[in-house]
Amino acid sequence: MADLQYGIACSHVPLIGVGADQNREDDPYFAPIFAGFDWTRQWIMKPENRPDAVILVFNDHASAFSQEIIPTFAIGCADEFQPADEGWGPRPVPVVKNHPELAWHVAENLIMDDFDMTIVNDMPVDHGLTVPLTVMFNKPDSWPCRVVPLMVNVVTYPVPSGERCWKLGESIRRAVDGFNEDLNVQIWGTGGMSHQLQGPRAGLINAEWDRKFLDDMTEDTDRLRKIPHIEYLRETGSEGIEMVMWLVMRGALDPQVKELHRHYHVPASNTALGHIVLENVQ
Ligand code: DHB
Ligand code: FE
Repeated sequence: MADLQYGIACSHVPLIGVGADQNREDDPYFAPIFAGFDWTRQWIMKPENRPDAVILVFNDHASAFSQEIIPTFAIGCADEFQPADEGWGPRPVPVVKNHPELAWHVAENLIMDDFDMTIVNDMPVDHGLTVPLTVMFNKPDSWPCRVVPLMVNVVTYPVPSGERCWKLGESIRRAVDGFNEDLNVQIWGTGGMSHQLQGPRAGLINAEWDRKFLDDMTEDTDRLRKIPHIEYLRETGSEGIEMVMWLVMRGALDPQVKELHRHYHVPASNTALGHIVLENVQ
């Protein structure tokens, strides 16, 4: 049977992708950003940890979707997904290969569990998905695992609540546990942490709030799942709402988890960079 033991969260700041694509990891600006991923890059390629498939929870930034169609939750079921052109041409990263049988199984189970998923086959994937792959896996010729893209709308209000995202994670876990193939599956939640990219509060970062959020991934998840949108907006800036995607990841793990690794760095571009690796406690 499929097994889900680990959850990872990380920011998806596009500038980090630029730093990697231009081989600037050792620049003074980028060095401390990439250094915090060294631990995970080594850990994740050990045979016992390397995922066969990742359910990668991310948000599209008007690359695949536009104001014409805005799914709240979408799951990619096609064989593969191309890197999106975000204005400077697509990033020079490998095509993203899905595990279509797992994707369809998860889609079916979520829908039968009353989550009205949108099924997408044509979805160019932007920095929300490709930057997390880069920070975890660096620059391979092909990504070392299959990726099931699971898209959450956090761009156009109304966006789903943290509680709804948590429950989606619980449902994903039930689906994975029922998948009849020996598969090491990880779930990743991406985006955040505090950041605001426009308006009078552009550049807002709230390190104290972010650190408490990281602490409570292990210590007080009841608090995290109840955080209302207005608190994300007020305390973490307009784009801090991306952190509800971390709750999809956390909801898919066991009630008790252990923190294996954490990285927090301010700033990366306009964003507080956060990263955490969590393991189920048996
Ligand atoms: C930045 C962060 C994001 O999450 C994003 O989607 C775009 C830009 C930034 O900090 O530059
Ligand atoms: Fe973003």
